[in-house]
Amino acid sequence: MSQAVVRRRTGILISGRGSNMAALIEAAQAADYPAEIGLVLSNQPEAGGLARAEAAGVPVATVDHRAFAKNREAFERAMDEVLRVNQIELVALAGFMRILTPWFVRRWEGRLLNIHPSLLPLFKGTHTHRQALAAGVAEHGCSVHFVVPELDAGPVIAQTKVPVLPGDDEESLSRRVLGVEHALYQRALAEVASGRARLVGGAVVRG
Ligand code: GAR
Repeated sequence: MSQAVVRRRTGILISGRGSNMAALIEAAQAADYPAEIGLVLSNQPEAGGLARAEAAGVPVATVDHRAFAKNREAFERAMDEVLRVNQIELVALAGFMRILTPWFVRRWEGRLLNIHPSLLPLFKGTHTHRQALAAGVAEHGCSVHFVVPELDAGPVIAQTKVPVLPGDDEESLSRRVLGVEHALYQRALAEVASGRARLVGGAVVRG
């Protein structure tokens, strides 16, 4: 008899359309995937991803950051509470467009992942495709990393490269990168959820 896979309860944080979220939900539909998606949480009540998650039968919640104006930590405490009530063990940021405080990041240290649309450490922050085109790089891509307090500076778990082609603009380049983000995130979450990749002493340790 094959051994049952331990499935870590994962919460996905979104702010928008949720295509990466949908890819993680889809991967987690396989019985042997080491994560189950226990919650999708948005800071934007109108995020398109919420309806997609609901349609897939995943519980959803909203903590609207605008209700906590000028008190980022209170916003995060509210999110943290929802995650804990839902017994979430791992958090995957998927197009979540709020900067997290050190308080939240430390609370979820080693259990908090993000996907970023560049080959980190290149092009942190926003408008990464514009930054890549302006820099004239021949290759661009995406990274999944553990989140640390410094923005987009956490240890990289996995990356996928794509070429930058003549005539590319922000839209064509972002489409090409998004086309490889989903499989990358599915693979990286599986590595972390199964314990094959861990954050130890500020670095990714495998095995
Ligand atoms: C993705 O390209 C993701 O890498 C990026 O936002 C997009 C969300 O799309 N994330 C960031 O820029 C984080 N700083 P999605 O909602 O379709 O997954």
